Amino acid sequence: MDTKKIQHAEWSSRFAFILAATGSAVGLGNIWKFPYITGENGGGAFVIVYIVCVALIGIPIMIAETMLGRRSGQNPISTMEMLTEEAAADERWRYLGWLGVIAGMLILSYYSVIAGWASAYVLKAFTGSFFDSDATAIKAIFDDFVASPVHLLVWHSLFMAATMVIVARGINKGLEKAVRFLMPGLFVLLVLLMAYAMTTSGYFQGLNFLFKPDFSKLTGSSVLTAMGQAFFTLSLGMGSVMVYGSYLSKDVSIAKASILIAGADTIVALMAGIIIFPLVFTYNLHPASGPGLIFQSLPIAFGTMTGGWLFGVLFFVTLVFAALTSSIALIEPAVAWLVESKGLSREKACIGAGLVTWFLGLGTVFSFNTWSGVTLFGKTFFEVLDYLTANLMLPVGGICIAVFAGWIMKREHSEQELNMPSAQSYQGWRFLVAYVAPAAVFLVFLHVVGVL
Ligand code: PHE
Repeated sequence: MDTKKIQHAEWSSRFAFILAATGSAVGLGNIWKFPYITGENGGGAFVIVYIVCVALIGIPIMIAETMLGRRSGQNPISTMEMLTEEAAADERWRYLGWLGVIAGMLILSYYSVIAGWASAYVLKAFTGSFFDSDATAIKAIFDDFVASPVHLLVWHSLFMAATMVIVARGINKGLEKAVRFLMPGLFVLLVLLMAYAMTTSGYFQGLNFLFKPDFSKLTGSSVLTAMGQAFFTLSLGMGSVMVYGSYLSKDVSIAKASILIAGADTIVALMAGIIIFPLVFTYNLHPASGPGLIFQSLPIAFGTMTGGWLFGVLFFVTLVFAALTSSIALIEPAVAWLVESKGLSREKACIGAGLVTWFLGLGTVFSFNTWSGVTLFGKTFFEVLDYLTANLMLPVGGICIAVFAGWIMKREHSEQELNMPSAQSYQGWRFLVAYVAPAAVFLVFLHVVGVL
């Protein structure tokens, strides 16, 4: 085990870890998914539930997951093996690592397709497709695009290839460099677009939709979606945070870093909402337009605003990069496991995991066109995959991590690993992971299956 620890890379600094973990958290989840599911679930009340979930469930579990990874210094599967042994716990805890590896590949299979859309939109923005177009023309561009399996397939393949090349180059070289200029760039662009949104006639209507809660619009399933989104957007419950934690040196405060990362992630999501909803209301679009929402709203702005060409290109380029830093995190658990436990070279591990994920992605590619009529419980392949991973696998993985950290792991181990500034903060965290988070997830599940 010692040799493995030596081979296992370490972040070059605390800052590098925070950047990379923020890079993993901030992605399509914030800019593509958050606005469209907020639109589908009625706005303000949904946003409040989402924020409460991030604070009370997300942050404590993020602390727990990082801690487990750092304690073992290995990939999620080996981490769970080692910690299960250390705590003399039931053998079955080891499956938790597996759940994460599988969830990561399932998510990446559709994540890559959507990131492919964003990549295609870089080109569309560059060639001036949005110039002087109205809402109808922009919607037609989107509809034509997703109706073509070939187009989606080509962009999905390119995005997967890019991800695998970066992952193959190793965690320090590839990732750290990319995130360093990306995160600040994304932030600046969002601020500029927020300023633009303020000039639109639907600004206040957009803000009202996003921030004025109407609890009558909240259903059991929207509460589950909000909770699932908290896990998805923070990259929780599937081993990504565990792997990133395993590269973390022992002197960093996990709690502080987690709060910072979750805060930054939430701010980016809200900024995306503050940009998109004013456009939605200005141009009479439907908030509940689904996964196409940002692709149908933002280009209208890029087509009409001064400097829109440049903004459009920059925006979609940054979105693709933000997606890349997340996709890397999605596949890293599988790759780290293949390398560390199966003895594969990093290149071979990437090719193997990448090909399987790419293949799975075909289902999502077709679900927007050829297979759009093929449904299970009224959901397309993409919707089933999204529901299965974000609403079920991540919360289940998260609950298990919480229970493991709060109940199974020896108290002195977590206390030592977290090294919190005061006994009260440690107690507070422990209360949240041991009781509040598992109970909340459980209650939401019960409510959705109709027991509550
Ligand atoms: N958090 C990423 C996003 O919001 C998605 C992701 C989920 C990344 C799980 C890694 C693990 O886009």
